[in-house]
Amino acid sequence: MRLDDNDKRMLDGEAGPVCRMAMEMLVALGKIYGAEKLIPVRSAHVAGLSYRSHGDAGMEWIEQVASQGSRVVIPTTMNVIGVDRSRDLGLPKDWCERQLRINDGYAATGCFPTSSCVPYLYGFVPRFGEHIAWAESSAVVFSNSYLGARDNREGGPSAFAAALTGRTPFYGLHLDENRRAGLRVVVTAPIRDLADVGAMGAFVGKYVGTRIPAFRGLRPLTLEEHVYLGAALASSGGVAMYHVEGQTPDALFRNGDIYTSDCEEIELGQAQLEEGYAKLTSNTDRHVDYVAIGCPHLTLNQVAEVAALLEGKKVKPGVTMWVHTNLAVKGMAKQLGYMDIIERSGAVLTQDLCTILSIPEALGLHSLATNSAKMAFYAPGSNRLATWFGSLRNCVDAAVTGMWNA
Ligand code: F3S
Repeated sequence: MRLDDNDKRMLDGEAGPVCRMAMEMLVALGKIYGAEKLIPVRSAHVAGLSYRSHGDAGMEWIEQVASQGSRVVIPTTMNVIGVDRSRDLGLPKDWCERQLRINDGYAATGCFPTSSCVPYLYGFVPRFGEHIAWAESSAVVFSNSYLGARDNREGGPSAFAAALTGRTPFYGLHLDENRRAGLRVVVTAPIRDLADVGAMGAFVGKYVGTRIPAFRGLRPLTLEEHVYLGAALASSGGVAMYHVEGQTPDALFRNGDIYTSDCEEIELGQAQLEEGYAKLTSNTDRHVDYVAIGCPHLTLNQVAEVAALLEGKKVKPGVTMWVHTNLAVKGMAKQLGYMDIIERSGAVLTQDLCTILSIPEALGLHSLATNSAKMAFYAPGSNRLATWFGSLRNCVDAAVTGMWNA
């Protein structure tokens, strides 16, 4: 693997032991994947920051890294954590304190403590063709597909290594030839709303595995639908990029020349859509004690939609409803009155956290309703929550009645 002088200096430890360790990791990754060199990246997004994934060993490690004076060298945002820094949600105090120590450790290295999985919605927007090192599968797939940036599906450690060095190995989706679709999905089912988009993503993600899917015949999707489609594909499969003919930038700029020569074609009709829905529902008890919306974190537009559905209603006593977004959107929602409408109903507009990386199960919750395919995919395993999956309207109805009625 070719290294430039600066890479070699970092590898020799001239920038300190943490930077040397980061370079060793990047070089090892590059060798595994056959990269010919390291390239500069313009930004990083570090994930895997919850106490769930770090534990005490990870917490002590990042505190040590920060105390040695190691600092990131490119704009670096931080993914979701397990607590809401603005309030006490009743989660175990000791767990929250340890989570905040992890957060503070990364922030001390110069990462922005943004605590959200949608960095592209609050100012960190890579350009078409720009090389980045982002972790968080939903953000990776969005940056590659909707924005046309160049990003591999980084893990938390490799994204942090890139943040400390400004470098990443040149392989995978950084190369044009690896951005072709191996599966064409001809959509014949009507895709009505976000839940349909999620069910479609769940079906295709499972089918396609690690290939890149491309969609044909899909109506123009909204920004939020693209965010949720990518998240569904990336959770039910190993997808890091998709195309939509006539919509996503790689497809537009290549004039449709986006397929591999051995590309397979399938139809996504009503039967496949229903299979997607079935994959995302693990619940049989119609009593719901937890409703969670916002995975990935909601845009202001989506917060306004939740507020409109909750206006004048009350969440049933005994039901917890969390609406997940980030500090930036919550600030706007507060100023514009949406937060007040949501919280008057008894729901909570959370910042920083999400269901999967937090521990709502510690509050005794068992039965979840959500409109997020990604949350529905992970919650049964990570949070021991049996899950109903459906539209936002169905979820709000479940919060108000305590029953899944769809
Ligand atoms: Fe974001 Fe958590 Fe979902 S990180 S994509 S809200 S699982």
